[in-house]
Parts: sequence; C-alpha cells; structure tokens
Amino acid sequence: STPPAVRIVEVGPRDGLQNEKTQVATADKVELIDRLSATGLRSIEATSFVSPKWVPQLADAAEVFTAITRRPGVGYPVLVPNEQGYERARAVGVEEIAVFAAASEAFNRTNINASIDESLARFAPVMARARADGVKVRGYVSTVLGCPYQGEVPLDDVVRVARALHEMGCYEVSLGDTIGVGTPHKARAMLRAVAAQVPMPALAVHFHDTYGQALSNILACLEEGVAVVDSAVAGVGGCPYARGASGNVASEDVVYMLHGLGIDTGIDLPLLAQTGRWLAERLGRDTGSKVGKALAQP
Ligand code: HMG
Ligand code: MG
Repeated sequence: STPPAVRIVEVGPRDGLQNEKTQVATADKVELIDRLSATGLRSIEATSFVSPKWVPQLADAAEVFTAITRRPGVGYPVLVPNEQGYERARAVGVEEIAVFAAASEAFNRTNINASIDESLARFAPVMARARADGVKVRGYVSTVLGCPYQGEVPLDDVVRVARALHEMGCYEVSLGDTIGVGTPHKARAMLRAVAAQVPMPALAVHFHDTYGQALSNILACLEEGVAVVDSAVAGVGGCPYARGASGNVASEDVVYMLHGLGIDTGIDLPLLAQTGRWLAERLGRDTGSKVGKALAQP
C-alpha cells in the first residue's frame, strides 16, 4: 500500500539549474523559488554553496538566498560540500543544509575530488557545527542504481553510505539514481535493503528520467513505504559529472501521479505547471514535463 501523503522536495533551483547550459539570471532564480513556494511546496532546495569553479551556474548562491522571500513553514535547504560552504551558507542565514556522497568510489572522486571515506570524514566537522547551531542536515547518496564509471553499484555500498550519513545525524537520506538507469524491481530492492538499516521515515528517493523509468521507480518505492520524493519543476537538470544524464523527474509529473493515486501533496498542480512553463521559457526550451505540456493545451 502507498502512504496517504507525500512530501515533495523540489530540487529544480539547485540540482536542476546546476546543469543547465543557459545561465539563469539571479533575479529569475529568486522569482523561481518564490513562485515555487506559492504552490504549496514545503521543501525547496534553493542553491548550492559548493566551489564556484566546479559549479559556476550557482556562483550567485549568497545573492539568491538573501533575496528570496522565506515563507513560514517552508524549508530551503542548500547543498554544502565542506566547512567553507557551511560558513558561506550560515553567513546569509541558511537554516538547513544538504551534504552528499556517492555509493560509487569512482563517481565520488570525480564529483567531489575525494574518496567516499574522505568525504564522510570531511562532513564530520560540518555536522558538529550544524548540531551546535541547530541547523538541519539532509544527506544524499548518489549513484544508488548504477555509476557512469564503474557500472553496477553493489547494494552493500549503498546501504553503508546511507547508514553512515544517518548515523552522522542526517534527519533524512535521499537515495539518488543519478544517471537514471534503474528499473522498478531494482529500485524496490535497493530501498528495501537500505530500509533494513535506516528507518523508512528517514528516507527519500531521487530519480532521474534518463531512460524514462522515473515514475515507475517512484511507484515501486511508494508501495515499499517511502513518503518523500525529490523532483525538479519542468524536469530541469541532469548531472555535470554523469554523461548522458537527462533531467530530474519532473515535479508536475510526480504530483499528477500522486494525486491520481489519492495521495495528498498539498501542492497546487496548475500553478506548479505554470511555473514550469515559465522556467522553460527562461531557459529557451520546452518544458521537460509531460503534465506541464498537457495542462498548457487550450
Ligand atoms: P577541491 O578543488 O578538491 O578543493 O574541490 P579545495 O579544498 O582544494 O578547494 C579548491 C578551491 O575551491 C579553493 O579556492 C577553495 O577556496 C575553493 P582557490 O584557493 O583555488 O581560489 N572552495 C570553495 N569556494 C567556495 N565554496 C566552497 C568551497 N570549497 C572550496 N564550499 C570541492 C573540492 C568539494 C570544494 C569541489 O569538488 C566541489 O565544490 N564539488 C561540488 C561539485 C558539485 O556540486 N556536484 C554536484 C552535486 S552532487 C549531485 O548533484 C548529486 C545529487 O543531486 C543527487 C543525485 O542527483 O543523484 C546530490
Ligand atoms: Mg539529481
């Protein structure tokens, strides 16, 4: 059976825009986040305080975070890779961060220039400061269903990294099929293996639609009991270090499916779809959401 309600974590402004070729103006990023918070979303990943040399698209993180209107009841996590990122984020009043590691050694090296254990060790002082400051921390495990460099990723490696992030103090661990290669039974088996070590209420799923499997994978995971789903409006994004990775699953498509299943999200779907089309226009292309297109028909 599926959960009665699902929380969507909107990752478009971060995971989406970090990999779009078109540079989006700071003012448009701010407008995007404010439009998203008006739809009823309760979690919006706003930006990323990583090295601007690595992700120039989000070099304006501080300006964006300072300019958004923070709506009560809405969380605005930001990506933080190290203490330097933590300090930049705190300087502009960030109250929730997300740390990230891959389940695949090769991917972790390419993405953050460190081994898995080195990056977990690097998070320790960040976690300690977050705890002292009352800052919430979300964790990501990427490449949970496959890696562009090593191919298959053993389930034990996924479980180990997810468990380590949870034990370090992440209130929620998001399991990412970064390159979108997973299929439903594999997704379900992966989630089940992790949930044996980390409680299901502390887990989220994060799918990319590279091979068109994202909604099927999400349904399989909902049936397994997960109640938090990451997605990106207009299906924006991909992954700078994962060749061929198309966008994140589109939030509009996920919300349409959830509502059709009788699952509450608290989100105004027509308003979300309108926001997706607005963003696609800013990016100079069609929305990557089928629902977004369908709802635009006269
Ligand atoms: P490095 O080059 O190994 O680190 O990068 P470093 O410590 O030697 O620093 C190099 C330079 O960067 C220095 O500047 C630092 O000051 C600066 P320089 O002395 O050369 O002028 N620097 C920073 N500047 C601003 N903010 C910071 C920061 N840190 C260092 N926080 C590092 C290591 C981790 C910093 C780098 O590799 C990095 O930023 N990587 C992030 C890449 C990234 O964001 N990838 C995408 C996110 S993960 C993802 O998308 C997957 C996910 O979405 C889930 C899924 O889809 O499956 C989560
Ligand atoms: Mg992603």
